[in-house]
Amino acid sequence: MDLIGVATTGGDAPGMNAAVRATVRKATANGLRVIGFEKGFAGILANESRFLDGRAVSGIIHLGGTFLKTARADEIKTPEGISKATEVLKENHLEGLVVIGGDGSMRAGCKLHEASGIPVIGIPATIDDDLAGTDTTIGFDTAVNTALDSLDKIRDTATSHERVFVVEVMGRKRGFVALEVGIGAGAEVILIPEIRYDIDKICGWLLESHRRGKKSAIIVIAEGAGDSTNVTEMLRQKTGFEVRLTKLGHVQRGGHPTAISRLLACEMGAASVQFLLDGKKKHMTGYQDNSVVPVDLEYASTTQKPLDERLYKLALELAT
Ligand code: F6P
Repeated sequence: MDLIGVATTGGDAPGMNAAVRATVRKATANGLRVIGFEKGFAGILANESRFLDGRAVSGIIHLGGTFLKTARADEIKTPEGISKATEVLKENHLEGLVVIGGDGSMRAGCKLHEASGIPVIGIPATIDDDLAGTDTTIGFDTAVNTALDSLDKIRDTATSHERVFVVEVMGRKRGFVALEVGIGAGAEVILIPEIRYDIDKICGWLLESHRRGKKSAIIVIAEGAGDSTNVTEMLRQKTGFEVRLTKLGHVQRGGHPTAISRLLACEMGAASVQFLLDGKKKHMTGYQDNSVVPVDLEYASTTQKPLDERLYKLALELAT
């Protein structure tokens, strides 16, 4: 093996730079050359790349975002896109591709391997933490900490004004971010797509706890758990409390990666190259029980990651 490619794809996640750096440095340490594609699959489709040596990835381990840039490339979801990307990989004589991204990226990577026969290794990097076969993903811990920082600040004003705050966090269709942020922030209520909720019951609970002396509350809602504006309005009307809505939005995707996100990125980046050297063809660097293991890419991209029921029960117990 002589030449491999690397790309950061889909939504950016803090730690992507550290993952590219680890991939490049592990590859060069093993005598491989690396090209980096610009803007994820869009750059592969447009054949926009540059050679990356060890120096090209200096000074980026601590930076959020991705210096290779990224994009949402709908074309790669089509059979035409896959065959166009296959041609580009072959034209470049690539013997392996490392795709750093979320579930859509893993799906596309899988298809790309099937169409081209070129080994593809996926590195799970998404703030959503919604990939099966890995306990966690690069960027998740950073996003949770970023959101927690905001929640702590919102708690100050919620307490001072005796208000209810609804805080919407990211997570796409899943509630992993909301659950961990909610528990860490001591939220009174956590609304996630995986668990049905009843607004009337929540209002009853808020009124009852207000009667018992709890004058403010924080409700964390995952973006996939319903329209937060409607939820806020219903809570306002049914309780008569002052209810405010804060959508944290893309602030959760930026910033310096935490130690956990960086270490995961270093381990996974290095493992991706090792997997290629070991002859793996279609795998993801999964993190299980404190080590990086190969997980079938198809399994990772088609299986729904289960919610940690134990954590949800804990959230309920601690919110009383
Ligand atoms: O997948 C990461 C994520 O931030 C999701 O949490 C969110 O739903 C989505 O991306 C937002 O995507 P975009 O930045 O393309 O609007």
